[in-house]
Amino acid sequence: MKGRTVMKLDQDIQEILISQEDLEQRIEEMAAEITRDYAGKAPLLVGILRGSYIFMADLVRHIDLPVSMDFMVVSSYGAGTVSSGLVNIKKDLEEDIEGKDVIIVEDILDTGNTLVKLTAELLKRRPASLKLCVMLDKPDRRTTPIKADYTGFSIPDAYVVGCGLDYDQGYRQLPYVGVLKPEVYE
Ligand code: PRP
Repeated sequence: MKGRTVMKLDQDIQEILISQEDLEQRIEEMAAEITRDYAGKAPLLVGILRGSYIFMADLVRHIDLPVSMDFMVVSSYGAGTVSSGLVNIKKDLEEDIEGKDVIIVEDILDTGNTLVKLTAELLKRRPASLKLCVMLDKPDRRTTPIKADYTGFSIPDAYVVGCGLDYDQGYRQLPYVGVLKPEVYE
């Protein structure tokens, strides 16, 4: 790992699942894909707080297009309300997305609940297009079918932190994705 500050937080990590270097490389590839796919367009990246902000900051700095950015804070009402498509919007977008090419940016796709509902909600606002870009995917955890258009890494069902992902609001600043030692949360 390139001479970065070793943090006390590192001691709580059992295993580095995705190194900083691998993340950086993959994020550059994803940004290049987005740059190609949206050539001639100016997509609006919608980051879902809080987890997405580090991934989004890294991603956007490699996108060679005139992008704009907006953010939402959402929470899901749980599996029981999937069919009604309800998502609890705690902070809505500042921008009107009608007619825009929107890319939702998320740190992790887990059960799929949040993003299925959020996608349904945003489609009601009639964007020109809507795609989903996630840093991590845990396909084994999926309860609601949804597939991202851009996926950084598929990972097993482990308790991961870092690069925006938290445990009890901590560890988000770790520059790699690591598996938390069970004794930390048990
Ligand atoms: C995470 C993640 C997604 C959601 C995915 O957010 O950022 O929004 O969970 O889970 P799902 O696929 O099971 O719906 P979290 O609620 O942990 O909030 P945070 O972004 O503030 O960390």
